[in-house]
Amino acid sequence: METKYWHLTNHQEADEDKIIEAVQLLKQGEVVAFPTETVYGLGADATNAIAVEKIFKAKGRPQDNPLIAHVATKEQLSQLVTEIPKYVERLIEAFSPGPITYVLPSNGICAKNVTAGLSTVAVRIPEHPVANRLLQISGLPIAAPSANTSGKPSPTTALHVKEDLTGKIAGIIDGGATGVGMESTVVDCTQDYPVILRPGGITKEQLEQVVDKVLIDPAIRNGTSKELPKSPGMKYKHYSPEVPLLLVEGDVQAIQDQINEDKMQTKKVGVLASSRTAEQLQADEIIALGNNMAEIATNLYAALRKFKQDEVDIIICEVFPDEGIGAAVMNRLRKAADSMITKNE
Ligand code: TXA
Ligand code: MG
Repeated sequence: METKYWHLTNHQEADEDKIIEAVQLLKQGEVVAFPTETVYGLGADATNAIAVEKIFKAKGRPQDNPLIAHVATKEQLSQLVTEIPKYVERLIEAFSPGPITYVLPSNGICAKNVTAGLSTVAVRIPEHPVANRLLQISGLPIAAPSANTSGKPSPTTALHVKEDLTGKIAGIIDGGATGVGMESTVVDCTQDYPVILRPGGITKEQLEQVVDKVLIDPAIRNGTSKELPKSPGMKYKHYSPEVPLLLVEGDVQAIQDQINEDKMQTKKVGVLASSRTAEQLQADEIIALGNNMAEIATNLYAALRKFKQDEVDIIICEVFPDEGIGAAVMNRLRKAADSMITKNE
């Protein structure tokens, strides 16, 4: 299929026409990629099961993984669920529109394949002006996973979407690079307290400023055990670069030692590290991710995509502090990694 490409210019009216064209395709049951403040989304009318099926097909996504329904307003959000607990009202007030997704009891308005047959639906109000305009004009809930081929790093530019999905979807709206770089925080709001199912753009620390207690789904911590020198079998591989990724927990010298070890096996070594660490290391290819965790979050996925099979044999990545937005970064890195080594004595 031919994939339309709309490049937004920031000239209000011209952009508006392009967004209207995209909405027309969505209303016809087609699939269109669009920018959000977190990563690019692959959208379809969430009330149209046939349209939603096209998302799964284009991405090669397993059918049992439910999608997030995106809406423009809190009123629209309330139209998809049976109830909104008091603490969710406060969270919405504080963080929406923004990079947070609420899992709430579904009222069945969204198609069954959006929720993968669950009794709950995940809903988010994105903050990005293009996403928001698209949702406003369409008036629809738009089901949208990240706009990447399943298993690959999420797209933070329209070019990433093009690489993965050209010929497989009806259109791509290019609104420039996304900002946060990590997906939204997914919060289960069906219990007495919010439970973080996926760390993301809104941090646990931020949530705790609004509600008394925030729980974390134990599954998130998988594979972090510091007692183990190596944690193999990080089962759910995701966000994966073309070559194996090894996480190294330790100081600059420990990381350099690991690079040298791999080089001795005549491997070409790529490195991902904070800018400060990166400038002290020597390897075949080094990508400095940024000066702080927010920058590292913004740049991580593009960096993971940059390492190509014909250029490096292995990527070594620094382990970052598991707090604030770092919790999302480490969650993604653990899922992307083949193994993790702890070098601290
Ligand atoms: O920032 C984001 O959230 C991006 C942008 C496009 O909005 N979207 C995104 O979608 O990351 P996706 O499909 O890549 O991730 C959605 C996550 C998955 O981990 C899925 O299992 C979970 O949300 N999820 C969706 N519905 C759920 C439900 N009813 N219960 C529990 N988890 C759910
Ligand atoms: Mg995804």
